[in-house]
Amino acid sequence: MKVPFLDLALHHQPLLPEIRRGFDEVIASCSFAGGKYVDQFDREWAAFCEAKHSLGVGNGTDALWAALLAVGVKAGDEVITVSSTFMATVEAITHCGARPVFVDIDERTYTMDPALVEAAITPRTRAIVPVHLFGQPADMDPILAIAKKHGLSVIEDACQAHGARYKGRPVGTLGDIGCFSFYPGKNLGAFGEAGGVVTNRDDLADFVRLFRDHGQRKKYDHVLDGWNARMDGLQAVVLSAKLKHLARGNELRRQHAAVYHELLRELPVVRPVVADFAQPVFHIYAIRLAHRDAVLAAMNESGVSCGIHYPVPVHRMKAYEHLGVPPGSLPVSERCADGFLSLPMFPELTEPQLRRVAEALAGVLQKFPSLIKH
Ligand SMILES: Cc1ncc(COP(=O)(O)O)c(C=O)c1O
Repeated sequence: MKVPFLDLALHHQPLLPEIRRGFDEVIASCSFAGGKYVDQFDREWAAFCEAKHSLGVGNGTDALWAALLAVGVKAGDEVITVSSTFMATVEAITHCGARPVFVDIDERTYTMDPALVEAAITPRTRAIVPVHLFGQPADMDPILAIAKKHGLSVIEDACQAHGARYKGRPVGTLGDIGCFSFYPGKNLGAFGEAGGVVTNRDDLADFVRLFRDHGQRKKYDHVLDGWNARMDGLQAVVLSAKLKHLARGNELRRQHAAVYHELLRELPVVRPVVADFAQPVFHIYAIRLAHRDAVLAAMNESGVSCGIHYPVPVHRMKAYEHLGVPPGSLPVSERCADGFLSLPMFPELTEPQLRRVAEALAGVLQKFPSLIKH
């Protein structure tokens, strides 16, 4: 039995009639760029996130960039974040002209270690960007307390955490502003590029509303130096249709994670830990193990598709060599990147498929000495 890493076609199949009806409506009304279907999704997404405002934008990277600009991040500022994330978290900071300052992650949750944040603050620090990586909420209360003490803004990178909760509250509005990606493979994904911010602050919502549409308050009345970061109407109707199934999909992911947890009990792997403050949504189910690359190759060969999120921490990327962050300076992030292996995770996974993944992994690990080439 083959097990895909993700099966989007299967997820979409029952939703296609509703999505096609939505496409017909968008086409008939020509609401292609922004417009009433984006406004409709914004209302629905705000309600889901228990947020006062939601502003759909072009993608998650736009969401992060707009959010950083909204809180006033500018050239010469420093922004504290993590290196164990997708590149976009950091790109958004550098595209404001600011300098990313990395702190290490907690080895249990793989999110920003709050104990390290205060030491990273300098007179130039303007904001903190925790990342709810893999759909696990970062430990927000201590981060928010430090931000308050030092007058810093907090932007949540919730691009992998649609519907995750921290101490019962949905991620996205715990800080000043939260950012989501609706990239197709996300727990809530479009049929192309899309993203959004949520916030309870009227001033930040007003900024992003203007920014995403060339800074226009009304047609050709440009009141700020904005950008074209509008969401498409076609993507908005896909998201509205899929949103109705997000909570159930997240629940199924949690159930699958619990099954994996049990099935992998005896194997020499580190399983994800759910902190007592967290209700995660398992966008990614990442284990850690030795000889990861050889195991990944053997798993893929056995018909069980696995992945790595992410093989290289951002500070070790060529693109950020100029930041001069020396190897070894973020030991937990570097160690985790060497060991992460993402197992198949999507709502429609069946119990036999989950068992097949666990059996394949057990088989690969048993035969393991022969896989090591040196
Ligand atoms: C943690 C994180 N931040 C930011 C992004 C950027 O989102 P997008 O690809 O929609 O621009 C992603 C998407 O993969 C992500 O996983």
